[in-house]
Amino acid sequence: MKRKRILAGNWKMYKTRGEAKAFVQELAPKIKQADCRIFIAPPFTAVAESAAASEGTAIVIGAQNMHDVPEGAFTGEISAPMLVEAGAQFVILGHSERRQIFLETNAFIQRKVERALNVGLQPILCIGETQAERASGRTEEVLAEQLSQCLAGIYCARSKCDNLSVHSIKTESLIIAYEPVWAIGTGNTATPEMAQAAHRFCRAWLAEHWGKEMAEKIAVLYGGSVKPETIAALCEMPDIDGALVGGAALNVNSFSQMANLLK
Ligand code: PGA
Repeated sequence: MKRKRILAGNWKMYKTRGEAKAFVQELAPKIKQADCRIFIAPPFTAVAESAAASEGTAIVIGAQNMHDVPEGAFTGEISAPMLVEAGAQFVILGHSERRQIFLETNAFIQRKVERALNVGLQPILCIGETQAERASGRTEEVLAEQLSQCLAGIYCARSKCDNLSVHSIKTESLIIAYEPVWAIGTGNTATPEMAQAAHRFCRAWLAEHWGKEMAEKIAVLYGGSVKPETIAALCEMPDIDGALVGGAALNVNSFSQMANLLK
């Protein structure tokens, strides 16, 4: 089965509302021929403006994070229903910057994934090992731990579970992003072979826990210093279904170039 390729831009804490709108307007005509799904995650303040500007185009707008409860006394936080109302269709969860700088745990991320699926926001769950973990040969152990804790209880295979819950039915909308921490923002992209090995491991994990059919439906993106020069070779790998891009997604020319290279 051929999974549709996805190019997702993570703008991090860059771009004002005006800059975001101008970017989306400039991008739209440049990606008319693109054969992939195109996602952009602007900062919260620019989600609604970007979503409005993307109407009638193939560009899908999402967010970079959210809290796991719908409302409450959580100063500075944003909830899933607020994102949906602003026009977000997906949300990046568990990015390594959230894990490392803001100390997010797998358990917290699991609750967010569950909430996102329940409100119809497509989660992009980020996982990945640090340089030290890779050097000590623990990459697969770390990925398995992140997958099992962040996806705990999210899905019950029909044959194994009597009590199917709503989010379990929509699980195939989950996207996974393998982002080795040592590759993010460093210019050190993983080689296609290294990335493929990790992606193959993720897909095997999904097949083991959710069944082969579901594992074949779920997109697994690579992230970490992806650029127009590196995206094609990475995404030619059988288990790499696209890219989650930070730095090179801030420039409309490099972003549209990558979109047009993804097949
Ligand atoms: P980068 O960021 O492309 O700048 O390495 C990727 C990411 O953080 O998702």
